[in-house]
Amino acid sequence: MGAQRELGEWLKNPSAEERARELERVQAKMHSPPYLMHKFWARRPWTVFRRIIGDFTRPCSIILDPFAGGGVTLVEGLILRRKVVAVDLNPLATFIMRHEVAPLGIPKFKKAVERIKASLEPVMNELYRVKCPKCDSNAVAEWTEYVGEHPVLIKLRCGCGFHGTKVPEDSDMSLFSTEAYKEIYKEIPIVRIPEGEKTRDLLKRGYKYFHELFSVRNLTALALLRREILAESDTEVRNFLRFTLSSTLKWASKLSHRRGEIVEGWAMHAFWVYPRWLEINVWRQFLRRADAVIRGKTYTNKYIGNYAVEARDFEELERGDATYMIIEGDARKIPLPDESVDAVITDPPYGGNVNYAELSDYFLWFDGKLAPKSEEIIINRARGLSLSEYERGLSEVFRECYRVLKDESPLISTFNSKDMRIVAAFITALRQAGFKYVATSCQPYLKVYETTFHALQVDAMPFDFVFIFRKSDKKCAKRQESNLSEILHELREKLEECKKEKATEREFRERTYPYLIDYIVNFSIEDARILAEEYEYMIKRERKHFSKIRKEVVKRRMSKNEQAIPTGFDGKGS
Ligand SMILES: C[S@@+](CC[C@H](N)C(=O)[O-])C[C@H]1O[C@@H](n2cnc3c(N)ncnc32)[C@H](O)[C@@H]1O
Ligand SMILES: [Zn+2]
Repeated sequence: MGAQRELGEWLKNPSAEERARELERVQAKMHSPPYLMHKFWARRPWTVFRRIIGDFTRPCSIILDPFAGGGVTLVEGLILRRKVVAVDLNPLATFIMRHEVAPLGIPKFKKAVERIKASLEPVMNELYRVKCPKCDSNAVAEWTEYVGEHPVLIKLRCGCGFHGTKVPEDSDMSLFSTEAYKEIYKEIPIVRIPEGEKTRDLLKRGYKYFHELFSVRNLTALALLRREILAESDTEVRNFLRFTLSSTLKWASKLSHRRGEIVEGWAMHAFWVYPRWLEINVWRQFLRRADAVIRGKTYTNKYIGNYAVEARDFEELERGDATYMIIEGDARKIPLPDESVDAVITDPPYGGNVNYAELSDYFLWFDGKLAPKSEEIIINRARGLSLSEYERGLSEVFRECYRVLKDESPLISTFNSKDMRIVAAFITALRQAGFKYVATSCQPYLKVYETTFHALQVDAMPFDFVFIFRKSDKKCAKRQESNLSEILHELREKLEECKKEKATEREFRERTYPYLIDYIVNFSIEDARILAEEYEYMIKRERKHFSKIRKEVVKRRMSKNEQAIPTGFDGKGS
C-alpha cells in the first residue's frame, strides 16, 4: 500500500489526460454476441469499456462496478483477466450477468433444444396453424397482426413454397381452442402491474396484470415451454434454457409491432401497445433466441472460458480462488473491506433516462417476481424522486466507492444526459464523496445508430462522456477563479451565434458542453449548480425557437430514413 500512497501509477506515463484523449479515438462498435443474448437497457459500447479497463488497470486488478446493469464491465474485465465485483440492485441485471459469464457446454445445450423440439414442435405448430392460401394445406403462422382484439393479417410460410401474408379466415383462428390448454394456462403467474411513472399509462388504459400484455395463445406457448424446460435434469442447461425463455419475452407480447416491413419486439423505454400489434410465433422466436445464446456462449467460452469462477466472498476473490463476484443489492453498502479495490469503472443511471426497475418487471413477472424499487437511484416523479434525491443517492454510492478504493486509484465513469443539471449533479456527487477530478473525454456515438430511429431523436446527445476521477486526500491545485457572470455572458453570445446559424438545440449543447464541464469540475459546488441551472434556463427560454428548428430537421430526416431502418427480427436484435 506504501507505493499506492504516492501518485497512482495510472496517472503517469502516459498521463491520464493523454489516455483520456486516446479514448476519444476508440470506435464504438455494435454489441458483441454476449450482449445480444438478452435485452438490457442502455448498455455502453464494449470497445470503450475494454479500452478503459486495459488502460487503467492491470491483469488481476480488482475492479468494482457499483451499477453493473447489462454487465459490460464484468464481461470485458474477465476477458482481460481482471477480477470484477459487479453490484446491481436489480435482479434482472444479476440474472443476465450470471449467464453472460458462466461457462456453458454448447453440445449438451444444443441436445436439450433438440429434445424440446421433438416434444413440443408438433404442439406448437398446431397452436399457430393456418391454411395456406396457395395449396390449401396446413402451414404455420409467423405472426398475426391485430387491431385491438381482431386479427387482420397473417404472415405464414408453407412447405409448398408460399411465403407471404393472407387475410385471416374463421378457420385459421378457431384452430386454437383455449379449452384444450386450460391446465397449462393455470401455470401463468398472476402479477399486478405496480403504480409507476412508466406503468401509469398502461393502468389508465385498463391493464391490471402483466399477463394481459400477452395473447392467450402466446401465454400458452410460453407456459408449455417453461414446463418442458423445468423437466431438464442438467442444472446448467436448465438455467440457460430459462435464460433463453426470458429473452424470448421481448418478442412475445402485444408490445411487438411492424414498422414497414420490419417486425419489432419491445424496443421502447416505455410500455406501449400499438393500435396494430403483432402476435409473434413464440416457438419460432424461442429457437432464434437459443441460437443467439449459442453464439453468445461460444464467444465467452472462447474468450473467458474457465477463468470465470464466481466467488462466495471477497477472500476467495482476493486469494485468487475465484475471479468475480455478483452482488444483488444496494450499492450504498458494498460488502467489501476498506481500500480493497484497484479501480471503480461504472456507468450510473442518468437521472430518469431509463426506469430500469419498472421496465425490468416486464421480464421478472414471468417468474412471479418484481424488481425492488425503493432503493433505486433515479429521478422518478411517480416515486417522488427529484434531482436532489438522485444526487444524494449517487453521492452515497460514491462515498462507499471511495471507502473501498485503494488510495490514489481511479474512478472512471461514463455519463450522458442532455440536461446539464443532471451532469452537474453527477459531478457534484463525486466531489462530495471526496473524489478529485482528473480528465474527461467525449466519446462519439456509433454512426450506425444515427441512421436508425435514433436519428429522429434530434435532441439526444451525440456522445458519451468518460469522466476520470481519483481517490485522494491531497489538496487540489488552487481552484480556478472565474467570474460566473462573465461565463454566462459568453454562453449567451454562443447561443445567439447558434440561432443565427439555425443550429439545433443539440448542436448548441454539443458546442458548449466540453467547455461547461471544465467549469463545473473546477468551480465551487455552489457556483457549479448555479451555472448548470442558468444554462438550462437559457435554453428553456428559447424553447419555441428550438422546437421550430427541430421540426424542420425531423421532417428532412423522416423522408430520408423511411426505408433505411434495419431489422432486429432475424434473431440479431437482443
Ligand atoms: C446505466 S445502468 C448500467 C448499465 C451498464 N453499465 C451496462 O453497460 O450495461 C445503471 C444500473 O444501476 C442500477 N442501480 C440503480 N440504483 C442502484 C443502487 N442503489 N444500487 C445498485 N444498483 C443500482 C440499475 O438497476 C441499473 O441496472
Ligand atoms: Zn402451401
